[in-house]
Amino acid sequence: MRLLILLLTSSLALAAFAQSGELSPSAPDGLRKGATLGQDLPAPPIAGDSRDVKREVRNYPEQPPVIPHVIRDYQVDKNFNRCLDCHSRESAVQAGAPMVSVTHFMDRHFQVRAEVTPGRYFCTQCHVPQTDAEPLVESDFKAVDEVIRDSAKGGRE
Ligand code: HEC
Ligand code: HEC
Repeated sequence: MRLLILLLTSSLALAAFAQSGELSPSAPDGLRKGATLGQDLPAPPIAGDSRDVKREVRNYPEQPPVIPHVIRDYQVDKNFNRCLDCHSRESAVQAGAPMVSVTHFMDRHFQVRAEVTPGRYFCTQCHVPQTDAEPLVESDFKAVDEVIRDSAKGGRE
């Protein structure tokens, strides 16, 4: 019992000490700037849903296309796959959605199966919707056409 009281009081004291700022030098600035080692800042609000975009051009042929619609609350688990409700071979035409491509039916031996292969079952492993979030870091990514154009220019010079 005594030990318990000792533990309690010491942890309370420690908590008070941490809050007083003595233990809170500023943390190294990561992506979320301005906190201290002992204190968290509130998380920034979750970015808004997909911009209202049409299908986007892919930056290289084997890029998984980004999702041009909202997918909030779409269930994908072992019992049900909401994405395949619209994108499966059987439903795509009716749903007016692009069918998953043939690669989604290939097993590890490149044999094309009738069903979507387990390796492509969890769609959001590869496909993501776009949000209106500000980029956290700068990107100097170039689409493949730009790379080709630049290297062609370089070759002539
Ligand atoms: C209610 C039907 C429906 C559901 C459910 C649905 N989609 Fe779609 N999806 C569409 C339609 C329709 C389009 C085409 C939109 C367009 O042409 O503007 C589309 C487009 C896409 C594209 C773009 C394809 C391309 O070539 O640009 C991707 C990727 C995609 N959906 C992935 C998903 C994923 C992943 C899920 C599940 C999390 C999902 N979709 C659920 C109807 C659906
Ligand atoms: C392992 C990564 C991966 C997973 C998982 C995956 N995809 Fe894809 N998806 C791709 C890639 C890469 C492409 C583009 C090249 C290709 O077709 O293989 C693509 C293309 C597509 C396209 C465009 C097809 C076309 O012909 O334009 C649709 C639609 C799509 N995927 C939907 C889905 C849905 C729905 C699921 C879940 C059932 C899913 N994908 C799971 C990687 C993935």
